[in-house]
Amino acid sequence: ESKQEKTPLAIHLCAPRGFCAGVDRAIQIVELALEKYGSPVYVRHEIVHNKFVVDGLKAKGAVFVEELEEIPAGHTDRPVIFSAHGVPKSVPEDAQSRKMFYLDATCPLVSKVHKEAEIHFRRDREILLIGHAGHPEVIGTMGQLPEGTVSLIETEDGARAFTPKTDRPLAYITQTTLSVDDTAGIVAVLQDRFPQIVAPHKEDICYATTNRQEAVKHVAPKVDAMIVVGAPNSSNSQRLREVAERAGCRTAVLIQRASDIDWHDFEGITSLGLTAGASAPETLVEEIIAAFAGRFDVNVETVRTAEETISFNLPRELREMIASSQ
Ligand code: F3S
Repeated sequence: ESKQEKTPLAIHLCAPRGFCAGVDRAIQIVELALEKYGSPVYVRHEIVHNKFVVDGLKAKGAVFVEELEEIPAGHTDRPVIFSAHGVPKSVPEDAQSRKMFYLDATCPLVSKVHKEAEIHFRRDREILLIGHAGHPEVIGTMGQLPEGTVSLIETEDGARAFTPKTDRPLAYITQTTLSVDDTAGIVAVLQDRFPQIVAPHKEDICYATTNRQEAVKHVAPKVDAMIVVGAPNSSNSQRLREVAERAGCRTAVLIQRASDIDWHDFEGITSLGLTAGASAPETLVEEIIAAFAGRFDVNVETVRTAEETISFNLPRELREMIASSQ
């Protein structure tokens, strides 16, 4: 096929997309720790849910473990980093009792939810967490308080079926990467059943989740297909795919790399929406555009629905690294 015969394809690139401030900070923490302390640096759980990022850090000397016990006895003097998703209180406690040096890459917006949980607990409120069972952020947030203290609500049905365990006032908190619309539905059920329930002062769903979903909502109805670049275990990426589907996009797929593209999905399309989850690097977006450019006559247009300027401070131990590298 010659160049002239390629079908035109309008790619609508969602903005904002990809890395959020929490992911950016978490990756920087691992990179700077490797620079400052040499390898190996241990990381508990995937620092962010992206294989490409994890493999890149492994190549630089990071060693990923699921639990602190996996760190060999001779290496307990090496730094260990907690992932962006946050950890139950027992993890830093365990690290301390083993005299390990740890750096916490928990996103400050997740730590904010942890603090809310503690405040509710201190004020003697019964706490509900809206989130997805088994996700590390949910495990971390529930693990801020004694076992059995926080009730997990996953769906509207779950909200309907919930029975308070105590006669204390109720309060809810949420995971940061949920579907904005689903959560509103769950909250409406709770508020209807328990009008006094205490809500977060400011949304727990973070700015990055909200903005990425908003951009997809804007683009999805206008395109034949939508690609979300991200990992299957990435909550915010999964939600973006669902948002695209619900906005009326017939083909909405989550893919990790260009090599995952199933070209049958994109036969005959003339427009494509493209976004990336908060843990997916921009280079993977570029890789996918290049793959499409090999088969279509592509025209890329950015559709921006919000500006993002937020960034977070690094842990004290690593701040000097930035100062000295500039
Ligand atoms: Fe933090 Fe939201 Fe990113 S909670 S890690 S800014 S997706």
